[in-house]
Amino acid sequence: NYYVLIMAGGIGSRFWPLSRTAHPKQFIDILGTGKTLIQQTYDRFLKIVPRENIFILTNESYIDLVKEQLTDIDGSQILAEPVMRNTAPCIAYGSHKILKINPNASIVVAPSDHLIMDSEEFTRCIKKSLDAALENDCLITLGIKPSRPDTGYGYIQFNTQKIGEDFFKVKTFTEKPNIELAKTFVQSGDFLWNAGIFVWSAKNILKSYEKYLPEMNDIFKEGEMVYNTPQEQEFIQSAFSQCTNISIDYGIMEKADNVYVLPTEFGWSDLGTWASIYDQSEKDYVGNVVIPSERVIMYDSSNCMVNVSKEKLVVLQGLHDFIVVEENNTLLICPREQEQEIKQIVADVKQRF
Ligand code: GDD
Ligand code: MG
Repeated sequence: NYYVLIMAGGIGSRFWPLSRTAHPKQFIDILGTGKTLIQQTYDRFLKIVPRENIFILTNESYIDLVKEQLTDIDGSQILAEPVMRNTAPCIAYGSHKILKINPNASIVVAPSDHLIMDSEEFTRCIKKSLDAALENDCLITLGIKPSRPDTGYGYIQFNTQKIGEDFFKVKTFTEKPNIELAKTFVQSGDFLWNAGIFVWSAKNILKSYEKYLPEMNDIFKEGEMVYNTPQEQEFIQSAFSQCTNISIDYGIMEKADNVYVLPTEFGWSDLGTWASIYDQSEKDYVGNVVIPSERVIMYDSSNCMVNVSKEKLVVLQGLHDFIVVEENNTLLICPREQEQEIKQIVADVKQRF
């Protein structure tokens, strides 16, 4: 009864120029481990559910990348979206499709671009959540202890009411607060970050769509007859173009009153920015992270994050606290503390070139 929906349709613009619209971060071996982030994600779930119960939600334009990287997955397990509409529509699609396969399905919805260090603990948490979701009327989210007032995350406040021993009733869910609010949340010690990993039964999540995103639910419910038939793709083409652009966090998690959180500790990182890659990577004795390191020479340079293509010979002299990223004839040099600007830079560069 257990299924997995891996979301792999985002464009990861803060990792430019390494991550691009044509090749976003989930398809990159961003830490230089030998496996891309989506491959690592897939491997983690293979330990939990049978291969055929894993589905990849992605944009049409990434189908070939998915096939190349997940070589043993069947084409029917790749659910392709014609347009980007954020996470609420793709989850509605995946849930209706799975419901038709198995009305008693319990589903994990997971991003494809995170790092998880302790995969045994991860497996334990997911299994426990899948069981709980099958037996209770609840939407489960995994919570992470926050380490800084990051405005890119959802913040969860919970109370003492519980399901079993481990799942706490969520009091408030605040997606991407402003910096003042984020600071208050972290200082209070009462909040967890939303890991963006959700567990629920197909029935329960679709009940929530019916309540909070009824139009979107109707759009995908209408496909009931064609899911898992040759007509599915044609139906999906028109379905997505009718959807509003909204994430599951804003669309459902902030509103639902049956959300529970499982506080977890499995070495999670969103790898959302160069700073997080830097934090997660092994540094040399003066704090430099260099991927790959063979042809990079550094003199009197410290605390730099360098990520360049293998063939390039790169020399740094007297550079401290910088990000240096090179890929495909594009070079970015940016102080580490200004990396939040990269998102805006990408938007601007795209307009100009
Ligand atoms: N299939 C598909 N289609 N996938 C998508 C789409 C889409 O239109 N948009 C985004 N995704 C994928 C991304 O590739 C990523 O794996 C995942 O869905 C989450 O999207 P992000 O765009 O990375 O969300 P976020 O990081 O801003 O926020 C979410 O994750 C945070 C933790 O990393 C939220 O759930 C936050 O509350 C959470 O804290
Ligand atoms: Mg993200």
